[in-house]
Amino acid sequence: MAQAILQLSEIEKAFPGVKALDKASLNVYPGRVMALMGENGAGKSTLMKVLTGIYLKDAGSMSYRGQPAAFQGPRDSQQAGISIIHQELNLIPELTIAENIFLGREPTGPFGRIQWRRMYDEADQLLARLNVKHSAKTLLCDLSLGEQQMVEIAKAISFESSVIIMDEPTDALTDTETASLFQVIRELRDQGCGIVYISHRLKEIFDICDDITVLRDGKFIGECPVAETTEDRLIEMMVGRKLEEQYPRIAVTHGETCLEVIGLTGSGVHDVSFSLKRGEILGVSGLMGAGRTELMKVIYGALPSERGVINLNGKTINPVSPQDGLLNGIAYISEDRKGDGLVLGLSVKENMSLCALDQLSQGMQIRHSDEVMAVDDFIRLFNIKTPGRDQIIGNLSGGNQQKVAIAKGLMTKPKVLILDEPTRGVDVGAKKEIYQLINQFKADGMSIILVSSDMPEVLGMSDRILVMHEGRICGEFDAKDADQEKLLACAVGKTINEEAA
Ligand SMILES: Nc1ncnc2c1ncn2[C@@H]1O[C@H](COP(=O)(O)OP(=O)(O)OP(=O)(O)O)[C@@H](O)[C@H]1O
Ligand SMILES: [Mg+2]
Repeated sequence: MAQAILQLSEIEKAFPGVKALDKASLNVYPGRVMALMGENGAGKSTLMKVLTGIYLKDAGSMSYRGQPAAFQGPRDSQQAGISIIHQELNLIPELTIAENIFLGREPTGPFGRIQWRRMYDEADQLLARLNVKHSAKTLLCDLSLGEQQMVEIAKAISFESSVIIMDEPTDALTDTETASLFQVIRELRDQGCGIVYISHRLKEIFDICDDITVLRDGKFIGECPVAETTEDRLIEMMVGRKLEEQYPRIAVTHGETCLEVIGLTGSGVHDVSFSLKRGEILGVSGLMGAGRTELMKVIYGALPSERGVINLNGKTINPVSPQDGLLNGIAYISEDRKGDGLVLGLSVKENMSLCALDQLSQGMQIRHSDEVMAVDDFIRLFNIKTPGRDQIIGNLSGGNQQKVAIAKGLMTKPKVLILDEPTRGVDVGAKKEIYQLINQFKADGMSIILVSSDMPEVLGMSDRILVMHEGRICGEFDAKDADQEKLLACAVGKTINEEAA
């Protein structure tokens, strides 16, 4: 194999109360894609931040192009030819796509004038390469989350770097966007670029990566070519033990109907009707953009409806705001945990109890002992990696933030719990913990709606599955009669019955 272009060895990094990296190592080879794998909080993002000079390492060494290297900051590593796409977006919503891509290094002509034409042309070319169908003059805030991510990717490749790091780049992408990204990754690789690819999606790893490095608890566990390993072996390396059955579906006798939606229309949702019993998990499947999130937002009051009825335990409700939805007993855990889920500057405790203050208060007083107990329970139950409940949530790893977001919804003890992509960015071990918790709430008689693009997850966890297409429900399946092919055919708008006829 070629000589590594970049080598990190035995890197150590501690934060107050956390040893994030404990002799972590990584090699990046030119013309190859290296997967960096590990559970939530294993230290992947931290290692990349040490590499690019965002964090100072405590110990260890780094070499780049055969020379010892230490970067003073992202600008420094960027100039040396190393680009990074961070797990969290770093773009400015009020600027255009092109302005975001070339921020601080706009092409200039004589007299230092910005050459706008050239900037927009170059940005348009980058977008075309990634198959993004927007003009570079579009404002960033007019793009979907996935499209914004594509802009971040366009920016990273615009530097023509020799090493490109991608920290969970496909989290918010549609399948088509992911395919375009993979095409570009292959081109970059063939041009000799070394790529670090971080993802929890095993399928992607086997699709696009050449080698794998595994970290566990900040330690280097091993490096091997993808062709020489299997999913099971990889999971074992990551979690340090074998995982049994991933989807522990349980049988619960369903109770009375809890939620009934009749003819709901508005905000991109068309004439949707369904019902949900106590102790039932209803999966909602469909392609990205099928209107699933919109439907959920209308149900819990974040988006307005024009027509239709929502009954909760036999009583008609009309939630006009998320607070209102919550008061009625409907909790929604957003797919966009940063945008409308968590307050990154507040602590784990504050984030979790934010919505549950009603339940935790007596008169005007918050019962702090109850709050602390409930929060600690969730930290334990969810196995949330944090030195304590007072840690600022922005310091938690991405997957652990997601667990806090789910705990936050559960703290309100809702009657209906809506989970929108609950395991996105969550590692295999933690996924299972989340599934087990969902089951526990199911057994307690909670009604749960599980919106997910992960088909095995929907199939494995739900009792019944609705499929959406263009804002409508286009199919309903009993989980035991459904399979991936049927769901997919339905999601793209084929009618199953016609086929059978
Ligand atoms: N700025 C910080 N201050 C305090 N602790 C931090 C900080 N950054 C990271 N950590 C801690 O370091 C550990 C490693 O986090 P890191 O974000 O590198 O994990 P990760 O492997 O990227 O996980 P994920 O898959 O969830 O994104 C975690 O326990 C995290 O809480
Ligand atoms: Mg991370």
